[in-house]
Amino acid sequence: MYSTEKDIIPQNNRYQEAAAYLAGRIQGSPLTAIILGSGLGVLADKIENATVVPYREIPHFAHATAIGHKGNMICGCLGGKQVLAMQGRFHYYEGYTMQELTFPVRVMKLLGIKNLLVSNAAGGINHSFKVGDLMIICDHINMMPNPLTGPNDAAFGPRFPDMTRAYDRELIRLMETIASAQGIPLKKGVYVGLTGPSYETPAEYAFYGRVGGDAIGMSTVPEVIVARHAGLRVFGMSVITNEGYHFADDFVNDAGDVIRAANEAAGRMTLLFSELIRKMDDTFPMGDCVEA
Ligand code: HPA
Repeated sequence: MYSTEKDIIPQNNRYQEAAAYLAGRIQGSPLTAIILGSGLGVLADKIENATVVPYREIPHFAHATAIGHKGNMICGCLGGKQVLAMQGRFHYYEGYTMQELTFPVRVMKLLGIKNLLVSNAAGGINHSFKVGDLMIICDHINMMPNPLTGPNDAAFGPRFPDMTRAYDRELIRLMETIASAQGIPLKKGVYVGLTGPSYETPAEYAFYGRVGGDAIGMSTVPEVIVARHAGLRVFGMSVITNEGYHFADDFVNDAGDVIRAANEAAGRMTLLFSELIRKMDDTFPMGDCVEA
């Protein structure tokens, strides 16, 4: 259609090399991957029969440096299914390029992953959100550079990928059913992705609230864009770790408070994600657990 656009063959085989290395280290054929955000790495401890592969051992992988983030790929059993978890993600504010920080998503696609579950810590800008709330991400507003900028790698997806339903409606409905059965209240909303690393000014929090945002953070959107480009089904959840709508005279936004609030929500988040994986549609076949 866009005949002047040149889709390119992957300019190198870095994705394949990383995928081949991981395929040799993990068991089974996981169909679901989880990217664990700030303070939520503890979810990884619930993975049984786990094989842990540090990022530094994987060819071409970047190394996570952000506080609260370890750097491991973990393969094992969660919710009765074989999963692949990224314990620690890369952020644009750490100095990685968008291509470096989304590199693992394409590697996971090559490994046969069909579903991507993402979690993050976020500031609440919807005035009804409180610290500790969990928010299903229904949509996002991207305020970062787009990771698909540059020649399109047609081996993964189209030049102009659709983002109308970036977050899978079926998985959102399933999560709502699970949470209500567990008695865990959930919010739903729009996640605004910014580069950081500075937190927002009160005027910026108010601005992003007025243009349709409910929560704000420094991650997730790049991985989701690359995942949707490659046709993965995506589900995302934020833990609200601070409230960006009232500021006492002595208020200071503090990364330690953010990590603490994220850690406090980790139990609920782990339960919800495990149940989501357990109950995910059988018509979308999931890799059964295998012994390590
Ligand atoms: N802003 C941006 N990123 C964040 C916030 C915030 O208020 N809280 C946790 N991550």
